[in-house]
Amino acid sequence: MLYVGVDLGTSAVKLLLMDGEGQIQKIVSREYPIEYPHPGWSEQNPEDWFDQTMAGLKELLADCKKDQVAGISFGGQMHGLVILDEEDRVIRPAILWNDGRTWEECDYLNHVIGKEKLSEYTANISFTGFTAPKILWVKNKEPEHFARIRKIMLPKDYIAYRLSGVHCTDVSDASGMLLFDVKNRRWSKEMMEICGVREDQLAKVYESYEAVGNLLPEIAKELGVPESVKVVAGAGDNAAAAVGTGTVGDGMCNISLGTSGTIFISSEKFGVDKNNALHAFAHADGHYHLMGCMLSAASCNKWWMEDIIGTEDYGAEQAKIGKLGENHVYFLPYLMGERSPHNNPNARGTFIGMTMDTTRADMTQAVLEGVAFALRDSFEVAKSLGIHIERTKICGGGAKSPLWKKMIANIMNIRVDVIESEEGPSLGGAMLAAVACGEYESVEAAARKIVRVIDTVEPEPELAAKYEARYQQFKQIYPACKPLFDVIR
Ligand code: XUL
Repeated sequence: MLYVGVDLGTSAVKLLLMDGEGQIQKIVSREYPIEYPHPGWSEQNPEDWFDQTMAGLKELLADCKKDQVAGISFGGQMHGLVILDEEDRVIRPAILWNDGRTWEECDYLNHVIGKEKLSEYTANISFTGFTAPKILWVKNKEPEHFARIRKIMLPKDYIAYRLSGVHCTDVSDASGMLLFDVKNRRWSKEMMEICGVREDQLAKVYESYEAVGNLLPEIAKELGVPESVKVVAGAGDNAAAAVGTGTVGDGMCNISLGTSGTIFISSEKFGVDKNNALHAFAHADGHYHLMGCMLSAASCNKWWMEDIIGTEDYGAEQAKIGKLGENHVYFLPYLMGERSPHNNPNARGTFIGMTMDTTRADMTQAVLEGVAFALRDSFEVAKSLGIHIERTKICGGGAKSPLWKKMIANIMNIRVDVIESEEGPSLGGAMLAAVACGEYESVEAAARKIVRVIDTVEPEPELAAKYEARYQQFKQIYPACKPLFDVIR
């Protein structure tokens, strides 16, 4: 049988077709625009997501045996607020995961309701990108829209709804709403009250590997596939990526270098970071995970390459980078503010340390290293919780760069396992569909069969020591700049 994984990303939707053995048959991708209507805001039109998903599905399925398609599932950008009216029409553009407009609502949640209560109800505190503060923002700033809300959805769930007619979500993505009691895998009554929403305005929650229904007849007809195709709940993109890289079960780690940068640690038991710097979310394998998320990762490199120095030849620029561990230029990658671990929407991108002999290559290197240093900040939080990590998987666009992988291995001083397919969320989505259709008995069984490590980047002791010294310097830059970030808003 054939399974489709849809990764509804921030810059594009990526679609992947996998057979029952886990072999990838085809991958296609379709881009859509993102709007930044004010500094720190980011929005997309859910209709663009749906149109490009449908166009992508048609291209993906064009030359396969369509009657073999059995299931479709998702990985999706997390936390985005999609609000629907009485007739399931989108009320306003979706407010995305990296949007920083809700700082007042976050202050209210974290300091008036209080972090302790939030953590008790949801296992997390409020970050500007999370969904609950966005709901409060709409309530406070756009009451006419708030009054019309009939359903509150997350990005990938809106697509699942358009394909199946079911208002659904899954435990991993629901975890990022700050409306979900993560430990008990159900909506939090207290949080619904705090946000002024009713349970019937929220979607029905499924485990990621559960079918929510079948394709709507008109969609099946348009795609030329059977109406029996199962639509499967899927996961937030990080949990889906973890499935796609085999980061399931206990104590496994995955780093995703996409628009965002995440460090994801799977756990069989529920656990919370006492300081809530890491998110405590449900995992798509039926268990839990901890995650640190930086808001700009591979997107910093894209910004530097394409918008600033004006090239698309990333390889050529990286080839000019000379010595590692000796760069005296540093870059703080906070182009959209920062989530983990600083939780500061006012933080900004910053270069520091340039001299007259600084080259373009030094600055490119600083951007790549700055992202790796900032990921290490979250890694340090995990270590402080007593979590011991020796190796990680890696996925996302940035994982295609051997140089970046080497920097990460040495800056974090851990082994980086390179897997055969770095597709992450789209592969994870297809795997979840396969589990729901009975091809594998569990998500872990699917990962064991499908995910293969093909290489390992080992840290080199001398280089790791040089980077350790550099990290100790990097660590001091954010606290020094922090008071300025509040001034230059
Ligand atoms: C995770 C997060 C991002 C988005 C990116 O908390 O906000 O990784 O899911 O799509």
